[in-house]
Amino acid sequence: MDTTHSTLVQTFVDFYRERGHQPLPGDSLIAPPGDPVLFTTAGMHHLTPYLEGRPHPLGNRLVGSQRCLRTTDLDEVGDRSHLTVFEMLGTWSLGDYDGEQSLRWGFELLRDGFGLRPGSLHATVFGGDDVLGPDTESLEVWQDLGVPVEPTRGEENWWSNGPTGPCGPDSEIFVWTGDGIPSGTPTTDPRWVEIWNHVMMRYRRHDDGTLTPLPQRNIDTGLGLDRLATVLQGADSVYGCDIFASWREVVTQHWDLDEREQRIVMDHLRSCIAIIGDCVLPASGGRGYVLRRLLRRVLTILWREGRPSFTLGDLPIELFAETLDHFHRLDFPGGPETVRSVVTDEERRFVGLCERGRRVLSRFSGSVLSEEDYSFLHETHGLPREIVDLLRRQENQSNELIHSETASVI
Ligand code: SER
Repeated sequence: MDTTHSTLVQTFVDFYRERGHQPLPGDSLIAPPGDPVLFTTAGMHHLTPYLEGRPHPLGNRLVGSQRCLRTTDLDEVGDRSHLTVFEMLGTWSLGDYDGEQSLRWGFELLRDGFGLRPGSLHATVFGGDDVLGPDTESLEVWQDLGVPVEPTRGEENWWSNGPTGPCGPDSEIFVWTGDGIPSGTPTTDPRWVEIWNHVMMRYRRHDDGTLTPLPQRNIDTGLGLDRLATVLQGADSVYGCDIFASWREVVTQHWDLDEREQRIVMDHLRSCIAIIGDCVLPASGGRGYVLRRLLRRVLTILWREGRPSFTLGDLPIELFAETLDHFHRLDFPGGPETVRSVVTDEERRFVGLCERGRRVLSRFSGSVLSEEDYSFLHETHGLPREIVDLLRRQENQSNELIHSETASVI
């Protein structure tokens, strides 16, 4: 079976087209006005009015692939499965078919379309909370399909887009990624990796926390393309699947980093390209600040041992083009060259910041920095903690080098 990621997208879309779904073009990473999040974190953001009852021009069965960006998992980026930016394959029933149909089709596609062994799957379902009873309908579907299923209490199997708005119980599908026979359950063994979430989007949460039914019962599902490709290609981590092949080659060839650092650099650079591709520029607030922080995080890692000779401006233009293409932004005005120049300008700005920072920090040389020093450096000189630490580390390294060279001369 061809498991190239583009074939997986095609298989997914074809499967649902054959079942009456109309394909959606991917939408922007910028969440729509009024949405509680800065960035699109799931396929449903641009569909909120339709989940709330407005008729969609393409009908009530939709399928698509949506670029998403999640900064909530930032600390986990660099492990085997978390990414900041990714493509999410999705399906929607806008008041049409129900949860049972969605789970049955999902199972069929995983088994017959993607060739996953039913024995390597596990599901979880909403087990109820203080307000709502358990989702027995989904539980029974999984039992009928012979897939082990675990009900969880409370938030674990409840999806919402923020404190208020459309929400509902969900059923998550996990794949076993360990060696040998699967063991435990998704909540007890991390080798069960979640790949697909089916949300029964039927409620609206109000400001006072109460729930009321939406005018229609919807289904909203999301399947992470990178995770699916990783599982089907038998890769060790998402960074090992074909989507990252060109990035791996460049990053490992030009920078001397440990594995986790390589992964963070690849992830964040791809995120920056995707964010710029949706017309966001680095700034000191809002989305532009997220972009700036991601780029600076990359530079802080790359400059750990001093400034490398291979700069971000040296990254091949093909990487920028491939990444824009992956996130459906090849038509970005100015093209990949413009994206690269935004990145290069920001790198130059960082060089300037570090030079200024070194001068400021020379006044603190030798002393241990207090919390007040850190906030003074941040607020008065625009030097965040990680840059202060980076510059001090570099300063110590060069002092040690001078001492050892002096000692060897003596
Ligand atoms: N909105 C759900 C999720 O992000 C399904 O797409 O998991």
